[in-house]
Amino acid sequence: MTLQLRPFTEADFGTLIDWFASEAALVQWGGADMRFPLDDAQLGAMLREGAGDRAARWLFSGVVGGATAGHCQAALDWRHGVARLGRVAVNPAFRGRGLAAPFLRQVIDRIFADPAFKRVELNVYTFNNAAIRTYRGLGFVEEGVRRSAVQVGPERWDTAMYGLLRTDPR
Ligand SMILES: CC(C)(COP(=O)(O)OP(=O)(O)OC[C@H]1O[C@@H](n2cnc3c(N)ncnc32)[C@H](O)[C@@H]1OP(=O)(O)O)[C@@H](O)C(=O)NCCC(=O)NCCS
Repeated sequence: MTLQLRPFTEADFGTLIDWFASEAALVQWGGADMRFPLDDAQLGAMLREGAGDRAARWLFSGVVGGATAGHCQAALDWRHGVARLGRVAVNPAFRGRGLAAPFLRQVIDRIFADPAFKRVELNVYTFNNAAIRTYRGLGFVEEGVRRSAVQVGPERWDTAMYGLLRTDPR
């Protein structure tokens, strides 16, 4: 199964909104600041950050056979050469087929293709085994855990921080 990277656009909004059926699923994907349900307004604000030569954010779709199979964003700190990967998701209909790593490998290659970027980092909730296996397989190193970092309904979740340097083995 070949996955191709292309920019995320407004035409993808409806598809992405359908992937998150609960507040917990939305926060697991997008972090504690997301408001359930995901909507055009929240996605529009993200997309606007993607404008310009030195955008604050790059937004990607992963396409398999014409279908949107993945989504990922990178928040860009141009001054310090750091890209923070986030809002990584594989379409529920495509999960468990080993697509996450090849998708993110293309995103990481795209980031490091720009000489400005020396480091890619990300946050992941510690129970998210599929995500953590993916990130470790790509060479990310765990750098610490923020214990009891967010409140989601009645639960508090721990956040692990991972980093990958341009010079790290991949
Ligand atoms: C995290 C996510 C992108 C992974 O994609 P996926 O299609 O489910 O996973 P893949 O089939 O590519 O497998 C990735 C790895 O996780 C493992 N895995 C897959 N599903 C798993 C599960 N339910 N529990 C534990 N491990 C799992 C696979 O065996 C594989 O590990 P390996 O490479 O060591 O063999 C996807 O599950 C997702 O979109 N989750 C919801 C949003 C989310 O949590 N995003 C991450 C935010 S940090």
